[in-house]
Amino acid sequence: MVTEAAVRQALREVMDPELHKSLIDLGMIRQVEIDEERVHITVALTVMGCPMREQITSDVRAAVGAVAGVSEVTVEFVEMTDEEKRRIGLSPKKDQEGAAVDYNKIKHVVAVMSGKGGVGKSLVSGLLAVALRRLGKEVGILDADITGPSIPKMFFGDGARLSPSPLGLVPLSSKTGIKVMSINLLLPDENQAVIWRGPLISSAIRQFWGDTFWGDLDYLIVDLPPGTSDASLTVMQSLPISGVVLVSSPQDLAGMVVRKAADMTKQMHTPLLGLIENMSYFECPDTGKRYDIFGPSHAEEIAMRIDVPLLGRLPVDPRVAVACDAGNIEDLAADAFQPIAAHLLQTVEDDQP
Ligand SMILES: Nc1ncnc2c1ncn2[C@@H]1O[C@H](COP(=O)(O)OP(=O)(O)OP(=O)(O)O)[C@@H](O)[C@H]1O
Ligand SMILES: [Mg+2]
Repeated sequence: MVTEAAVRQALREVMDPELHKSLIDLGMIRQVEIDEERVHITVALTVMGCPMREQITSDVRAAVGAVAGVSEVTVEFVEMTDEEKRRIGLSPKKDQEGAAVDYNKIKHVVAVMSGKGGVGKSLVSGLLAVALRRLGKEVGILDADITGPSIPKMFFGDGARLSPSPLGLVPLSSKTGIKVMSINLLLPDENQAVIWRGPLISSAIRQFWGDTFWGDLDYLIVDLPPGTSDASLTVMQSLPISGVVLVSSPQDLAGMVVRKAADMTKQMHTPLLGLIENMSYFECPDTGKRYDIFGPSHAEEIAMRIDVPLLGRLPVDPRVAVACDAGNIEDLAADAFQPIAAHLLQTVEDDQP
């Protein structure tokens, strides 16, 4: 005798292929009909055009077909009613908070900021994600640079795209399992310029937070656009930032721009985790000798002035630029960066038990 309870129990094992949550928990099993040995399952999708229908069908068939006494399984798809969407926390008209917030469990959100452009924020964001992943953490990167997104190239090279998902935005996973969300993964052509005004940019960033199914993360790294712009403000106001990492270069002579950025975080009551000086020196591969090619470092002095720890100094390394251009950031040994990441980790986890 086949029971509905046994069928539902079997369906607990069937995961949505993109969200990695059971169809039962997602409230997607609307009806189970049993006619002796035959079982008919009605699956409710948030949108009918779900690209995962075939996989869901075969997974449901396999799981229910394995229940004792079942000889035939049929699957039917329907669209969720507004009430069903509401019950699982998907408001039919997406609210301020976003559709995915209830599903996401994100322990620490770390934003990477700089006073000016081109100092290596995106590189630091990428290396930080890679380093944390190597330490066994679940990691995501939210590319909050809407007009100059550079994270996808570092992880996927050119041309990577997200496929649409029925429930919302699902980040793209890198080869080591880092989840990436960026406007460049959504544009029809990655060379297309995004010429949006502030409010639209802010709303895209909020969607990358609230409508993106990040799942369980230990760390979400947010790569900010340069400076103390609208977008940085949005991130600080609408995301629960655990802390900010400041990146500077030796060319920030007196550190004025760094101090401005630090001041912004203070005004927003966001903790500053520390300073990283990038392109600090060049180490000659033949002799191991260090050259201060951009002049002497002021990192220690600046860090002291803004009263944050100096997390470390990163050398100029041509191999880094090459790997980042080719989508191979995860293959870098990044020896210079690992102690910086370890230092940062200690700072974050000491702060938040
Ligand atoms: N330590 C380094 N060694 C070699 N190349 C580097 C280093 N740091 C950054 N670069 C290169 O410099 C360029 C700028 O770096 P990146 O994009 O990380 O800066 P950014 O601060 O994010 O810039 P933007 O303000 O435009 O967002 C990139 O091509 C990057 O590969
Ligand atoms: Mg950048």
